Amino acid sequence: MTSTTRKVQRIVQPEPTSDGAGVKLRRIIASRRLDYLDPFLLLDHFGSDDPDDYIAGFPEHPHRGMETVTYMLAGVVNHKDSLGHSGSIGAGDVQWMTAGSGIMHEEMPQLRGGHLNGFQLWVNLPAKLKMTHPRYQEFAASQIPVVTRDDGSKVKVIAGMFDSVRGPVTDIAADSTYLDFTLPPETSVEHRIPRGYTAFAYAFEGGASFGGTEVAAPNLAVLTDGDSLDIRSGKNGVRFLLISGKPLGEPVARYGPFVMNTEGEIHQALLDLQHGTFVKTEASTH
Ligand code: CO
Repeated sequence: MTSTTRKVQRIVQPEPTSDGAGVKLRRIIASRRLDYLDPFLLLDHFGSDDPDDYIAGFPEHPHRGMETVTYMLAGVVNHKDSLGHSGSIGAGDVQWMTAGSGIMHEEMPQLRGGHLNGFQLWVNLPAKLKMTHPRYQEFAASQIPVVTRDDGSKVKVIAGMFDSVRGPVTDIAADSTYLDFTLPPETSVEHRIPRGYTAFAYAFEGGASFGGTEVAAPNLAVLTDGDSLDIRSGKNGVRFLLISGKPLGEPVARYGPFVMNTEGEIHQALLDLQHGTFVKTEASTH
């Protein structure tokens, strides 16, 4: 089979919205413009210099049947959950949470730092793993490898591979790759993405040509299928996320933070919440 390069299939503008207790954010996936990009359920870019836009945070809420990935560029978010975990994630840190059968947690931005900027991505779980044990993978900025090239390009490898450097997040059901690229002006890079995988680039600073199509921040470029992507930054350079993963091709029943395969399973999640059996203890799932 001949090798083909990926192109931009469509450009999607983020939608300004608010979520949680009133956090202002840009919703990129899970908007009216782009509902689902199998296996990616949601992508939010939150960021502001005004604490009123974020300080109310995301008080206690449940998740079931999917994974949430929080990647911070600036500021601090404190988190606490029903499994007894708590901590802080700050600039450059990543938390990859597999909600599985269910967790209750809160995610509260802090005032220290004065400025908040980051992303939350939701990745779907296949039917066979929707009720798996919840799991966290949390990595500090210093544990995330950065590939630096002679031309000044920098790529932070959060999950998957770039230039044979592997990111620390492992055993992701959708075999996701999550990369943060910073390219100086007029710099080219080629990135290989397995054929058949869903892939997108979200430009959040500057602009670049992706497969020959100019994309200026802030915009999402959904890519066509192929084996690789050619990127060339514009005159101001570019910073973008490049994310890919294997589509599940399963039915999606979705209600807020519950993402299952059938309406019956959504109903069960709501019943479990009502009955206080939402969070499975070790004993109840063994
Ligand atoms: Co959450």
